[in-house]
Amino acid sequence: MSQIDAATVGKVVSQALEAIGSAADFTALKGIKSTTLGENSEIAKLNALLATVEPSQKAEAGKLVGQARAEISKAYSLRETALATEHAKAQLAAERVDITASPVLRRFGARHPLALLQEQISDVFVGMGWEIAEGPELESEWFNFDALNFDEDHPARAMQDTFFVEPASAHLLLRTHTSPVQVRSLLNRELPVYVLCPGRVFRTDALDATHTPVFHQVEGLAVDKGLTMADLRGTLEHFARIMFGEDAKIRLRPSYFPFTEPSAELDVWHPGAKGGARWVEWGGCGMVNPNVLIAAGVDPEEYSGFAFGMGIERTLMFRNDVRDMHDMVEADIRFSEQFGMVI
Ligand code: DAH
Repeated sequence: MSQIDAATVGKVVSQALEAIGSAADFTALKGIKSTTLGENSEIAKLNALLATVEPSQKAEAGKLVGQARAEISKAYSLRETALATEHAKAQLAAERVDITASPVLRRFGARHPLALLQEQISDVFVGMGWEIAEGPELESEWFNFDALNFDEDHPARAMQDTFFVEPASAHLLLRTHTSPVQVRSLLNRELPVYVLCPGRVFRTDALDATHTPVFHQVEGLAVDKGLTMADLRGTLEHFARIMFGEDAKIRLRPSYFPFTEPSAELDVWHPGAKGGARWVEWGGCGMVNPNVLIAAGVDPEEYSGFAFGMGIERTLMFRNDVRDMHDMVEADIRFSEQFGMVI
């Protein structure tokens, strides 16, 4: 006796339709495919039973099972289409980008004006064929003072100016100026030497409107045969014109530095100064003291040289009317942006 009658088939169909109808989403529907339509499904089992049905009833039983399978199949694909659409909608909603939202404005930063000025100064000298030299910030006392002809008891060596580094026996310090690069350059390079050294220097000053314990200087050194003070003047005048405009000029006032003889204070006539053109103290300079040449193994009978040095913060302050040193050390982008190099 065959089990394939309308009631049995109807039950299989209604169970399958119920399972399909209650599949909550696309993934759940895929999960019941094998039990409603696949090899393990009840309909597949009925189909297999057809082989046992008596020939006289085979046609009818086959029709019943065929219609049942078609019905389940149709229900499955309708549900599949519906859920696939829902699935795609949900996915699109999840990936939705709100193109009306206001953008997050991110500030990327700006080059620091001190870095820009250092580069600008370097360019002036590279343009004249000079080289850029560097030396260590942690320097030996010998390069910072002795080789530069500072007396043993020169006040600049005193603890209140210089950051000495322990142990004292190592004679190391944070360089107080860029002048030690003079001697290093002479020892490292072939003569003649034309070098510019921009760099960071350190002194035990408290931070206030005009001082900072960490600041920058630029040092120039030329050693060649037959250099005179006229070469120093010409070089500084050219430098001043590029920094302060065609109407700039320089003035040298006699002074004293251990490493130059004669020595001078360098003033610049600043045509664009806020409040009107005026003389401004810019740096120090002079002819390299023969003792410095000797310390660096250069024969002062054969070679002479000139040197100069100035503060970069100070230059920026009077060139661009920056009133407060704090602005330069705080790295506030609103300060840096005014100098133009926004990145
Ligand atoms: N090193 C000096 C300072 O820190 C500046 C200076 C003066 C540098 C005269 C020089 C120079 O090369 O010739 O105050």
